[in-house]
Amino acid sequence: MIFTVAIDGPAAAGKGTLSRAVAARFGFAHLDTGALYRAVGAKGGDPVAAARSLTAADLARDDLRSLAAGQAASRVAVIPEVRAALLEFQRRFARAEGGAVLDGRDIGTVICPEAEVKLYVTASPEVRAHRRWLELGGDEAEVLAQVRERDARDMGRAEAPLKPAADALVIDTSALSIDAAVAQAIAAVAARLDRA
Ligand code: DC
Repeated sequence: MIFTVAIDGPAAAGKGTLSRAVAARFGFAHLDTGALYRAVGAKGGDPVAAARSLTAADLARDDLRSLAAGQAASRVAVIPEVRAALLEFQRRFARAEGGAVLDGRDIGTVICPEAEVKLYVTASPEVRAHRRWLELGGDEAEVLAQVRERDARDMGRAEAPLKPAADALVIDTSALSIDAAVAQAIAAVAARLDRA
């Protein structure tokens, strides 16, 4: 079975949690596409060369989750040649046999416009910054400033800007428990699988 679940949204909205829960529930493979951009940013040097030569070892670095790695990822992600270098890998993953969940910024709009299910997961900047601060610590006001800066760059770039696909189901997790958000995502996938 070929079946793609595209999960897009801004930083720290809960995409990772929802993606892992959906993948586990339906036995689908999961690709965190933000990790690709984080690995390119963390590699340093020429980002286009880094994107073209990305290896499993680059993706396994344990410094990829930091705020600095997120900012570096957002900066290299505006470069069209970087995005082009990562596109085929993501498309192949999405259409591989067995079902796939991909989370990122442009999965439903650019990578997989034909995805069977598209979710746009969001929350207010304050709620997202608070979650990231609980996870990483530091100064909460600074975390909020970084969340806003990253939103502006990811939504404002010319190439594949972050926005909901026209046919995406929007899940605002600002006032939702994790369980309630997961239940909405799973219900959307189950409904579409019934029709497949
Ligand atoms: O989801 P994340 O925080 O790991 O993503 C890090 C950055 O990578 C994000 O700020 C923008 C970029 N990104 C992107 O441009 N397209 C994607 N599909 C995923 C991430």
